[in-house]
Amino acid sequence: MAARWRGSCCKRTTELTRDEATALDRRDELAGFRDLFVLPEQVIYLDGNSLGPLPSATTARVTQVLEREWGQSLIRSWTDHGWIDLQFRIGDKIARLIGASQGTTVVADSTSVNLYKLLAAALQSRPGRRVILTEAGNFPTDLYIAQGLAAHLSAGHEVRQVTDIVAALDDTVAVLMLTHVNYRNGAMHDMAALTHAAHAAGALVLWDLSHSAGAVPLQLEADGVDFAVGCGYKYLNGGPGAPAFLYIAKQMQDELCLPLTGWLGHAAPFAFESDYRPAAGVAQAVVGTPPILSLAALEVGIDIALQVPMAALRAKSLALAESFMTLMQPESDFRLLTPREAARRGSQVSFAHPNGYPIMQALIERGVVGDFRAPDVLRFGLAPLYVRFADIWNAVVIVREVMRSGAWKEDRFQQGRKVT
Ligand SMILES: Cc1ncc(COP(=O)(O)O)c(C=O)c1O
Repeated sequence: MAARWRGSCCKRTTELTRDEATALDRRDELAGFRDLFVLPEQVIYLDGNSLGPLPSATTARVTQVLEREWGQSLIRSWTDHGWIDLQFRIGDKIARLIGASQGTTVVADSTSVNLYKLLAAALQSRPGRRVILTEAGNFPTDLYIAQGLAAHLSAGHEVRQVTDIVAALDDTVAVLMLTHVNYRNGAMHDMAALTHAAHAAGALVLWDLSHSAGAVPLQLEADGVDFAVGCGYKYLNGGPGAPAFLYIAKQMQDELCLPLTGWLGHAAPFAFESDYRPAAGVAQAVVGTPPILSLAALEVGIDIALQVPMAALRAKSLALAESFMTLMQPESDFRLLTPREAARRGSQVSFAHPNGYPIMQALIERGVVGDFRAPDVLRFGLAPLYVRFADIWNAVVIVREVMRSGAWKEDRFQQGRKVT
């Protein structure tokens, strides 16, 4: 079979051979991006959906902020080195990645906190409606934040978790809150269709883009999205605990009432007035002092993402996944959880296996780094910027070795770790 993947999202019917994998890597127009990351020898890193790797340029940039900006310019850096505008500058860059215009997106806080802020504001914009509608199996922090907010409001608000989202959209729903690409199985929702359906029912829509930004094409404005949040440390490669981003559609910005009204979301923070007045636009969603070191690291990851041709990224992501799923097909004990249909998946492939935890530990010890989600899910993130077809081929060889040898049964792989 000819080694082609560009534009071919069709299902493979035959396994990728080692030679084909190598040929695909040789022709890969994204191949050069791998050199922009620090990737340890002998590691096949399939966990960029959880923590992206370190971009090589990050060390120098953070060192510069530490030594020159903080070290030498001290507090003057807020102005002289643009620290005070950094979260907006990076927000505008992220806007370009998610199909949004300037002034709609800002980097701030964590995804969890941003969810709280935007959900509360959305509820306030839909008085008389009490339901936060979401999907059963959404990421726990999304569910917990919604539940905590509903309990805090104690006005009969309710978080409704359903499987048939469209059927559950009625005139009680204030906001539809969904994660675009599911963290567990990698399934991707149709953002345009669900946003449209929610609007038709009179509800607002909040998307969690944690597993989408930097991984799949997004066009928030064209899809009519009201609000969105997302992580900086996954496919955006911003570093552990990188600050998150939030998006507020232009047409929502004037009618919002956000719940965390900190001084940096004030219209004139350095006027030090006694009463709160919201800043104009997305700036009202800022709360307190931004983490400059983390922002500096995040910007390096974002700058890389901005150089990537998105169509090529998506095509390679789908082809990597297709190759992986086909190669894993003979391993019949692994139940594929990820949709086979290209349009319905993000950039990760997940399998269920009753011994998933020790199997993943044995793989990690052999350099194939994915992760595990209880009770039985093995997740493999396929980030096209640095994952090669040869990596997929080699990873499956190692899976087979672990399974044939029964190596995963060793005692040390049964011990639970704090982070899985
Ligand atoms: C869908 C989704 N939302 C949110 C988060 C995490 O949010 P936070 O950065 O606030 O911990 C994750 C983390 O994996 C996630 O997968």
